[in-house]
Amino acid sequence: MSYNQDFTMRVTVIGTGYVGTVTGVCLAYLGHRVTCVDTDESKVARLRAGDIPIYEPYLDRLLPLAQANGGVDFTTELASAVAESDVIFIAVGTPPLPSGEANLIYLEAAARSVGASMDGTRYRVVVNKSTVPVGCGNLVEALVSEGIRERHPENHVKVGFGVASNPEFLREGSAIYDSLFPDRIVLGAQDSQTIRVLRELYRPLVEQKFTPPDFSPRPAWMKTVPVVTTSLTSAEMIKYAANAFLAMKIGFSNEIANICEKVGADAPEVMTGIGLDSRIGLSFLNSGIGWGGSCFGKDVQSLLHIAGEYGYQARLLEASLAVNRLQRQLVIQKLQDKLYILKGRTIALLGLAFKPNTDDLRDAPSLQIAERLLQMGARVRAHDPIAMHACRQQHPNLNISYCDDPMVMFEKADAVVLVTEWPEYRNLDLGEIVRRMARPVMVDGRNLFDPETARKAGFDYTGIGRASRNPERRETKSEPADKADERVAVSKI
Ligand SMILES: NC(=O)c1ccc[n+]([C@@H]2O[C@H](COP(=O)([O-])OP(=O)(O)OC[C@H]3O[C@@H](n4cnc5c(N)ncnc54)[C@H](O)[C@@H]3O)[C@@H](O)[C@H]2O)c1
Repeated sequence: MSYNQDFTMRVTVIGTGYVGTVTGVCLAYLGHRVTCVDTDESKVARLRAGDIPIYEPYLDRLLPLAQANGGVDFTTELASAVAESDVIFIAVGTPPLPSGEANLIYLEAAARSVGASMDGTRYRVVVNKSTVPVGCGNLVEALVSEGIRERHPENHVKVGFGVASNPEFLREGSAIYDSLFPDRIVLGAQDSQTIRVLRELYRPLVEQKFTPPDFSPRPAWMKTVPVVTTSLTSAEMIKYAANAFLAMKIGFSNEIANICEKVGADAPEVMTGIGLDSRIGLSFLNSGIGWGGSCFGKDVQSLLHIAGEYGYQARLLEASLAVNRLQRQLVIQKLQDKLYILKGRTIALLGLAFKPNTDDLRDAPSLQIAERLLQMGARVRAHDPIAMHACRQQHPNLNISYCDDPMVMFEKADAVVLVTEWPEYRNLDLGEIVRRMARPVMVDGRNLFDPETARKAGFDYTGIGRASRNPERRETKSEPADKADERVAVSKI
């Protein structure tokens, strides 16, 4: 590390999930002394043994470097960790309740325990990194104070602390890159002392003076990281608004793709055409079978719920959820269009994780698609480079045949659905797949393959919003022969 070690702080991170583990390991890599706490003993035991329970690229390589820099340990003992810390991050799950509201039981338990572990020896900052409804900063403050009063009922010990909201924007699959080179750091707090402590904590990140690990080099354009300081409420709102916007952007590209399919336009071409407009931007415009994962659905629902509490009907957010639901059903419709009857057919799913480079299956489209196909009497086979083990464990009742080798999965299959765009799937031998299948039907749910290449290999290919350049289709739609030539030649997004 080339960075001056004077800034070192003692940090506790509560929750060793996708966010907590990466946050803790990255802060230790930057030189802070970190203790990660979880109530799940088996998780902690694995982490202590250097065995990371989640799949996140390069985390196994960053962990020993973090140990060598600031140092990071894993424990179930919250009280001793908090007692020694300057900054305590809460990074526990906030899953949705059936009403759409965020379930705050983990956050509340963590905040109370933090308070009950505090003494008056130093000023501490309690940082909420979990995504929480507006107002939770106040809730955390109240619960920490309650915990303090339980510990010091006589009220003779003055315990100084501040509460901050520091929403997390990392993406699973590129979480280390996102943590070391974030687009911005949002710090929400009511007092300047709390902000000062957090600015100091993040100084190595903000100034970008640390030596990056060789597997995650600093992008050439990265000089410093902007810090946005706000009120607690604005910081909480920023996280929800960011996720709602991204979910809506994908939903928009899917809606346009569905219209493209009707009129004979090609969605990737259209998205390139609009995305090059700097006001729009190219990212998050890939059409497909919709978003999944632990955040978008839960956060949009939670924001809708918050709006509802204030008597506001957030129609754009409602539409965003509805479009995404429809997108998943599209796969079934497309299979019915090709195969007519799904009962007794064998459908091969390429990919299970909600996106590539993660083993996370929370709200993964694959699960809903598999469930629907099984309900309709189809047989479902699946392959995923990383998430098969997690799927078997977390969804034991889903009657999927898991195939370690995708080529074995295709044997006598009636259709293949590309569900997750793992990069290695690009290199599959399409001709060989066609030879193995009973019917060469492909529904490319992520527009991973080039339609012409797939068709040349013998596939009856259908993507999402892809223009059919198939002459038969053109004839039936009475499309002018030269229509394809009219399309603007643009590179793929
Ligand atoms: N996963 C993401 O990509 C992502 C990105 C940004 C923000 N977030 C937000 O961050 C938060 C955490 O998400 P995650 O995906 O890491 O969740 P996760 O479910 O992977 O991990 C949460 C962890 O917290 C632990 N926990 C629960 N209660 C605890 C307690 N009282 N004390 C100690 N540990 C406790 C659980 O055992 C679990 O290991 C959520 O609010 C989520 O919305 C997630």
